[in-house]
Amino acid sequence: MRTKLAAGNWKMNGLTEALSELAGMADAAAGASEVLICPPFTLVGAAAAAASGIAIGGQDCHAAASGAHTGDVSAAMLKDAGASHVILGHSERRTDHNERNSDVNAKCVAAWDAGLTVVLCVGESLEQREAANTLEIIGGQLAASVPDGATGHNLVIAYEPIWAIGTGKVPSTDQIGEVHDFMRARLEKRFGSGVGRSVRLLYGGSVKPSNATEIFAVSNVDGALVGGASLKAADFVPIIEALNAASQDG
Ligand code: 13P
Repeated sequence: MRTKLAAGNWKMNGLTEALSELAGMADAAAGASEVLICPPFTLVGAAAAAASGIAIGGQDCHAAASGAHTGDVSAAMLKDAGASHVILGHSERRTDHNERNSDVNAKCVAAWDAGLTVVLCVGESLEQREAANTLEIIGGQLAASVPDGATGHNLVIAYEPIWAIGTGKVPSTDQIGEVHDFMRARLEKRFGSGVGRSVRLLYGGSVKPSNATEIFAVSNVDGALVGGASLKAADFVPIIEALNAASQDG
C-alpha cells in the first residue's frame, strides 16, 4: 500500500510572503495523502519552520557534500535547513543546466547519503513522443539516473512529459497509464517486486483542480508533482483533496 503524495514545485517563484500559503494548505494536508512543497532555496528553512503537516524539499542539490562550488547547495545543507526531500533531474535542470542522467545519478547518491528522499524526474520531449520513442526514453532515463539502492522510502519517481509542463496540455489518461505501468514494471524488474511496488510514481505537467481526479484514477499514479497550481492554496488544496479522495477509493 503506497501512501499517496501531493508534491508542489514552486520553481523560481516565491518571496517571504508566499509562506502564508502554507497555512492555507494545512487542513487538506492533514488528510490521507502526504503533502510536500519544494520552495526556492531561499525559503526552505523558513518554510520548514512554518509548515505544519507539510514536508519541505529542495529543487536540486550538488553531487558533492561540500567544497568550492560557488552558488551551489549540498544535500546536507538542505537537510540542515529542514528539508526531507529534494527534486532531482527536473527537465528544466536538464535543459537549463545541461544535466545528464549521470549527473542526476550522482546527485541522487549524495541526497541519499544526507538522508533525503529524492523525487527524481523523467520525461520525453514532444519530438520523442511523436517519434514513438517515449518508453525507450523513459526506460533509459530510469536505468541511468536511478542509482542502485533505491527503496520505497528514499525514492519517488515523477513522470513529467516536457511538452505538458506549463503548457496546459496533458497526455490522455491512457498515455499516462502506459508510462506509469511501464515504469512500475521496470522498477520491479531491477529492484525486485517488493521495492519496485513500493516506489511512488507521480504524474506532473499541467495538473490542475479540474483534471486532478481523472489523473489520480489512472493505474500506478500515486500522486502528482505540481508546478503553477501549487503556488496558491486556493489551487493546490482542491488537488490535495482529490488525492485524499483517491486514497480512500484505494
Ligand atoms: P506545471 O504544473 O506548471 O505544468 O509544472 C509541472 C512541473 O514541472 C512540476 O515539476
